[in-house]
Amino acid sequence: MSERPLRLIQVGAGGMGRAWLAAIGADPEVELVGLIDLDTAVAESAAGAAGFGGVPIATAVSELLAAGVAADAVVNVTVPRAHHPVNTAVLAAGLPVLCEKPLADSVAECLSMVAAAEQSGELLMVSQSRRYWRAVGALRRQLAALGPIASASCQFSKAPHFGGFRAEMPYPLLVDMAIHQFDLARHLIGREPTAVFARSYNPSWSWYAGDASAAVIFEFGDGVTFTYDGSWCTPGLETSWNGAWRFGAARGSAVWDGDNVPQAETDDGMAVPGDLPDVPEQIAGSLAEFADAVRSRAAGEAVTPNGEVHTNVLSVAMVEAAVRSAETGVRVELATIIEDAYAKALDDERNPAVRAVLASWTSVQEVVGLV
Ligand SMILES: NC(=O)c1ccc[n+]([C@@H]2O[C@H](COP(=O)([O-])OP(=O)(O)OC[C@H]3O[C@@H](n4cnc5c(N)ncnc54)[C@H](O)[C@@H]3O)[C@@H](O)[C@H]2O)c1
Repeated sequence: MSERPLRLIQVGAGGMGRAWLAAIGADPEVELVGLIDLDTAVAESAAGAAGFGGVPIATAVSELLAAGVAADAVVNVTVPRAHHPVNTAVLAAGLPVLCEKPLADSVAECLSMVAAAEQSGELLMVSQSRRYWRAVGALRRQLAALGPIASASCQFSKAPHFGGFRAEMPYPLLVDMAIHQFDLARHLIGREPTAVFARSYNPSWSWYAGDASAAVIFEFGDGVTFTYDGSWCTPGLETSWNGAWRFGAARGSAVWDGDNVPQAETDDGMAVPGDLPDVPEQIAGSLAEFADAVRSRAAGEAVTPNGEVHTNVLSVAMVEAAVRSAETGVRVELATIIEDAYAKALDDERNPAVRAVLASWTSVQEVVGLV
């Protein structure tokens, strides 16, 4: 690919869509060539507010491509239930996609998208924006100096009054929020989750219909334990939106309050400095990694960016496993979640070419990196 900016069509112009328009506008490596929303008035208004007045607008990517708009990739900022139809249509049209988290509402739909990406040969990457905090980069380097990790914990305490769909859903904290910390745990621990026990509950004063609090214990590979203690209805002394973290390792410990530079100390009392890397943060970080990956792959390099679809499935599976454990009161293995989802994905798949890819897998657990 030449050195010109990567030409992007963005799908979804709601609340988060506006943040993505700002990120695209601020990155000279990319260029907005189209904006899609089911509601074109919403798209017109968001485009104008972001300084993109005059950009082509439509209700589907296929309309812009048919009209001759030349694009290199798509950014999908629609609601989770629209991720599967939008992503699979774009992949089938031969374009790579950067999709907002969560990849889907179910692991079965995630597996369908893994197969669709394989079938198309195009990159599908999920933007897990919390991986791109500079402090997370610093913490990963500090942890590497502390030897093998045994324990990781995240305390998450907030008290937002969102209203809307979050006030009505059965597991608002686990389904709408915890994926951020679950995915971050994988990134920081550097191993994969194998099983979970979860207790989900709703305090008597909660303003949510569903459970706004949860205590969750994950088992990870090599015996690492990750404990998540979260709530969306605990006013006072709130934590960062990233949560407050602690790690216990063979040669020391590390703590991160979620906002400032992490602290780490070795067993002989020496501080391990947390040097913040000079890199773009949050969605600007995932956009930069996606643009690099698209260019590298076009040049024939086999790069696997953070959030590449195969590698993201286990983050969605952690949510599904925690919900199943909360519902049943028993420990749930991630392997069970993945195998059950695979059976459902095979049953549900309506695209014969994608179904053939699904059926060709000899081990779905290998496909998603569980074994
Ligand atoms: N990274 C973060 O911290 C973060 C924060 C908020 C939201 N999000 C994620 O961003 C995504 C969007 O959230 P939001 O808050 O902007 O939602 P929203 O409801 O405000 O906006 C979604 C927009 O997508 C449009 N849309 C829905 N289906 C479509 C389709 N099939 N084709 C075209 N347009 C379609 C809707 O008309 C709407 O304008 C979600 O996946 C959400 O989880 C991430």
